[in-house]
Amino acid sequence: MIEYRNLRIALLGGGSVGAQVAELLLKNGDELASRAGAGLELIGVAVRDIAAPRTTDIPAHLLTTDATSLILSADIVIELIGGLEPARSYILQAINSGADVITANKALLATHGPELFDAAEQVGAQLYYEAAVGGAIPIIRPLRDSLAGDTVKRILGIVNGTTNFILDLMETTGESLESALATATALGYAEADPTADIEGYDAAQKAAILASLAFHTTVPLESVYREGISSVTLAQVESARKAGYVIKLLAICERVTDPVTGVEGVSARVHPALVPTGHPLAAVHGANNAVFLEAEAAGDLMFYGAGAGGIETASAVLGDLVSAARRHVIGGPGVAESTHANLPVLPITSVTTRYQIILSVVDQPGVLAEIAGVFSDNGVSVEAVAQSAGSGAGPLARTDDSSSTATLVIGTHEASEAALAATVAALEASNVVSSVVSVLRVEGL
Ligand code: HSE
Repeated sequence: MIEYRNLRIALLGGGSVGAQVAELLLKNGDELASRAGAGLELIGVAVRDIAAPRTTDIPAHLLTTDATSLILSADIVIELIGGLEPARSYILQAINSGADVITANKALLATHGPELFDAAEQVGAQLYYEAAVGGAIPIIRPLRDSLAGDTVKRILGIVNGTTNFILDLMETTGESLESALATATALGYAEADPTADIEGYDAAQKAAILASLAFHTTVPLESVYREGISSVTLAQVESARKAGYVIKLLAICERVTDPVTGVEGVSARVHPALVPTGHPLAAVHGANNAVFLEAEAAGDLMFYGAGAGGIETASAVLGDLVSAARRHVIGGPGVAESTHANLPVLPITSVTTRYQIILSVVDQPGVLAEIAGVFSDNGVSVEAVAQSAGSGAGPLARTDDSSSTATLVIGTHEASEAALAATVAALEASNVVSSVVSVLRVEGL
């Protein structure tokens, strides 16, 4: 039997992911040691409450409430507490004591990433975070290593399972958003307070992390444009289906050139979007995640799988653990986060994309021409128009008042956010438009 050097592993957090990491590490330790070239000794699991019930049992002798002592005795610290504090302080403590750190904490990385990466670089430590985006899906290492020789042009990501589950249920069963959210809560996908998922905060954190890595540029969380799914209606889902689209909450990170200033930079945004039914992302059902990536040389790639879950996320954490252990065996400093490109991070007003606008309009001669005029006055080119009789309450459906109102579904060519906003404002002010029923961006064409 080969005698390996022993590495001391401290685990912070005994929740659903932490307990799975502990179990798999204890069960598969010998095999992982062979892969890493070092023994992986779990020296303890720091928890807030030793008596708290756990999804998977952790041997009692490993549990402690003294996180600091554990951190100071470890070669590698795995942080699975979540949230900003005390996770940030613990990670800094670990780095400054010479340990490598593995974390799944997207909120912390999106908020304090530069501080943590700087601290690691200064002491030659490494921060690993494969589990922070997309749960089990390998996406951090592909961006950081496999695609390091390529130029990433755009990322379209379904990075929040809860909202994908809800939108998919609305699409496949015709349930309302409220009813689908109740189902997501009952099944344990949505938290008791679903705000972070529903309003897109969770996806925005992941977008900031992906954009920073993909573009070798620090993309601050505050610069990520964010809209959640709380105002998505069943009528929009139905009208999208009739037009050949599904609605997905997308995290979009892309290289952009501001149409007015010509400044080249990058942008990150999260919002519901129409995705053509033939696009690979349209086939991502339930609570799954997927990251669709367009690179200059590699072309289109898609990474797909479970975006959350205890054992699934533990897989990504243990992959990081083996990498960290291999680095300890080889020695040398960690690889610093690559932010050398330092590209301008542009606001959503610099973005151009396509739009679908649904209008409820007065049904009389000249209305279509007047509306077409609003689009052309604002420099937005119309690609397709479909008209049906009836109010905008149920797009494309005939209703009793069909004699006086009509619904127009207008698709545009690529236009700037600024031109689109001006168009919508002018449509709202127009006396032939009863209401602007829906404005959605179209992505993936
Ligand atoms: N709450 C997240 C989701 C999982 O619904 O995808 C953790 O990032």
